[in-house]
Amino acid sequence: ANSFTVAVLPGDGIGPEVMAEALKVLDAVEKKYDVSFKRTLANVGGAGIDNEGKALPDTTVDICKQSDAILFGSVGGPKWETLPPDEQPERGALLPLRKIFGLFCNLRPAIIFPALTGASSLKDDVIKGGFDILVVRELTGGIYFSTPKGIEGEGSEKTGFDTMKYSAAEVERITHVAFEAARKRGSKVCSIDKANVLSTSVLWREVVERVSKEYPDVELSHMYVDNAAMQLVRWPKQFDVMLCSNMFGDIISDEAAMLTGSLGMLPSASLAEGSFGMYEPSGGSAPDIAGQGIANPIAQILSAAMMLRYSFNMVAAADAINAAVEVVLNNGYRTGDIYQGGDNEKKVNTSEMGDAIIAQLNR
Ligand code: NAD
Ligand code: IPM
Ligand code: MN
Repeated sequence: ANSFTVAVLPGDGIGPEVMAEALKVLDAVEKKYDVSFKRTLANVGGAGIDNEGKALPDTTVDICKQSDAILFGSVGGPKWETLPPDEQPERGALLPLRKIFGLFCNLRPAIIFPALTGASSLKDDVIKGGFDILVVRELTGGIYFSTPKGIEGEGSEKTGFDTMKYSAAEVERITHVAFEAARKRGSKVCSIDKANVLSTSVLWREVVERVSKEYPDVELSHMYVDNAAMQLVRWPKQFDVMLCSNMFGDIISDEAAMLTGSLGMLPSASLAEGSFGMYEPSGGSAPDIAGQGIANPIAQILSAAMMLRYSFNMVAAADAINAAVEVVLNNGYRTGDIYQGGDNEKKVNTSEMGDAIIAQLNR
């Protein structure tokens, strides 16, 4: 049997709750596909601070280095928001993990499952017939990582500053990912920037134009990010692949998530060169619903499916998970975030949703 090693980092808030369901799905995949996933649990984020004194303990980094992939929950929450910024879960663990492992490419696929058309906040006729958008987000550069950054001075002179930088090489490699992906999908790339204001965007546009010449079969358009945010809710079907810098992709992907019905539906894959990746829901630790066992586990489960697809080349198993989710939604299972109160709908909690998906997978 094939065997893969997975570093499991549940993190904070709803992270452990939804991670438990993804692990149950991996158990089911092991039985069905004659494969084994050797999993090692590690602390990250607030859990790292509370249990080992820092957001990203060295033991956690070592476990990740010894693994074929990382399955990540979510980090952060009110409990740790008063710590110095660089020690907090987000800046102390999530961003360093992305940097350490070279996870420059973040894929966030937003599709509308037919059963959830009514859960989208957009009108039926805007959603009807579906949409299928892939946000390709640059993840290790731009304003998230450039220096200098900090806070200086006192009183009304106190100043916070961040720097945004992109090199041509950084833009090139993410652009190639977007065009390669578009080739296997709808053959369209819309590159999102703010080239009317930002120098990084002027460079971005220039590099994207140049790289696009290698893909004459893919249609390229450019859109300013403010217009893109608007177009996404006006007519989402116009988009196939949306190519974004780090911060624009963060914002655009939350917006795209809501079109699918809930942030709890949107998985993501954060990929390095080669087959290593970290797989994480696009949403966060959801402190407002944490501890109640009601979070939607689908984003975490679909993130595990992306791990099978991109790191382990287990395409059939990944497809089977996606199909099981679709059937369960068709059968009316709904966590609170996607519950509309329709006749066919059954309101379920986190583990009941996981169980329903596993039962479908086992059929
Ligand atoms: P959030 O994504 O945690 O929550 C936004 C809203 O979406 C909330 O109403 C929440 O209940 C809902 N939501 C998110 N996931 C859900 C799910 N699976 N099921 C049902 N509802 C869900 O964003 P926030 O409130 O801005 O941030 C909370 C914390 O999470 C912060 O500390 C933030 O930094 C962190 N965060 C972490 C990650 C990550 O670890 N990858 C991502 C985003 C935010
Ligand atoms: C995400 C999150 C993170 C980001 C935060 C928690 C650092 O919002 O994964 O989308 O901005 O990348
Ligand atoms: Mn985000």
